[in-house]
Amino acid sequence: MKKKILVTGGAGYIGSHTAVALHNAGYTPVIVDNFSNSSKNVLQGLEKIIGISLPLYEIDCNDKPAMKSVFEKEGNIEGVIHFAAYKAVGESVKEPLKYYQNNIGSLLVLLELMEQFEVKNLVFSSSCTVYGQPDELPVTEQTPTKPANSPYGRTKQMCEDILSDLTKSKSPVRSVALRYFNPVGAHESALIGELPNGVPANLIPFVTQTAAGIREQITVFGNDYNTADGTCIRDYIHVMDLADAHTKAFEYLDRVKETSFYDTINVGTGQGNSVLEVLETFEKVSGQKVNYRIGDRREGDVEQVYANVDKANKVLNWETKYDLERSLTDAWRWEQELSKK
Ligand code: NAD
Ligand code: WQD
Repeated sequence: MKKKILVTGGAGYIGSHTAVALHNAGYTPVIVDNFSNSSKNVLQGLEKIIGISLPLYEIDCNDKPAMKSVFEKEGNIEGVIHFAAYKAVGESVKEPLKYYQNNIGSLLVLLELMEQFEVKNLVFSSSCTVYGQPDELPVTEQTPTKPANSPYGRTKQMCEDILSDLTKSKSPVRSVALRYFNPVGAHESALIGELPNGVPANLIPFVTQTAAGIREQITVFGNDYNTADGTCIRDYIHVMDLADAHTKAFEYLDRVKETSFYDTINVGTGQGNSVLEVLETFEKVSGQKVNYRIGDRREGDVEQVYANVDKANKVLNWETKYDLERSLTDAWRWEQELSKK
């Protein structure tokens, strides 16, 4: 019998791609989503890719009785991936309570139910945002975290602290926080991908929308940073590589002997690329000119951050398959597919 993995936020960008990876690795993903930041059409795309429809609960993860009924109904849940959260950094500054309530509240509900139903293994969506502007590059898991510069970032740090505290209480829940760097791209089928809400805040959807003619121009936020071409550097990881890291994280947790356990793992490519390099690579793979201008720095941006992924390579037995060219090719294919709709 296939192992069931509860996937909160499974209709979202990373969750839907991870559902594919879980299915391919022999698991049954059970999706919980309230569609606050996703579309039900995602399920159709998923079904076309994997050939079956997946169990789905349209539920708010903060609704404990509803979540409890999922644990009861599904029975033998082997593990949980907690993607469900709000993720807009700027919005979190304007509406901090909304972020603390959803991102922390949902984790607490889940942990209480996992303890109650003796579901042991949890993979949590954390972020490289916990490092702020690190003093050393690339960042390892030992690199000290910095005070978060947004309530969103703080929710990720607080959730990590909660998971760490659980080990001290001898909780039976064993968890891994995967610290994602910048997820980009889409499934090669272009049946699922990133669905930005309104004007994209993130670089890649803004680039693809500009190339598609939806946006007139993209502004590069600053070219006076202390980097080779003056623009910020990030570690852009293909979303399917990131998805695979989640299935490997369950294999890792299964190998853990301790009853109570918590670990953090960077998931990136290990390579940093500047904004201008991204634009140049996109133009090369898409054959499209991107209309851009250099503007002011964006408040809160760190100059550069990219991962040391030795730990993920070693303990997860995982490595990336896709490079930036492939990520941008897939992002562009997805944008073109969206434009047809
Ligand atoms: P997303 O918004 O596409 O997906 C999140 C999903 O969770 C959405 O489908 C949304 O409807 C759902 N959701 C939110 N709150 C819910 C609730 N209370 N109950 C049920 N469903 C709820 O975001 P994503 O990019 O797929 O991110 C997934 C996770 O990864 C988030 O925790 C995010 O903070 C984290 N993360 C994302 C990035 C990134 O750049 N995309 C980087 C680092 C970490
Ligand atoms: C990437 C680079 C911008 C848009 C955010 C969150 C982080 C994490 C990932 C969740 C930066 C530049 C962007 C534009 C630009 N999410 N840029 N023009 O800021 O690295 O990280 O998403 O955990 O917490 O903060 O990603 O895609 O917004 O920006 O020049 O129109 O592109 O300055 O250097 P970021 P991003």
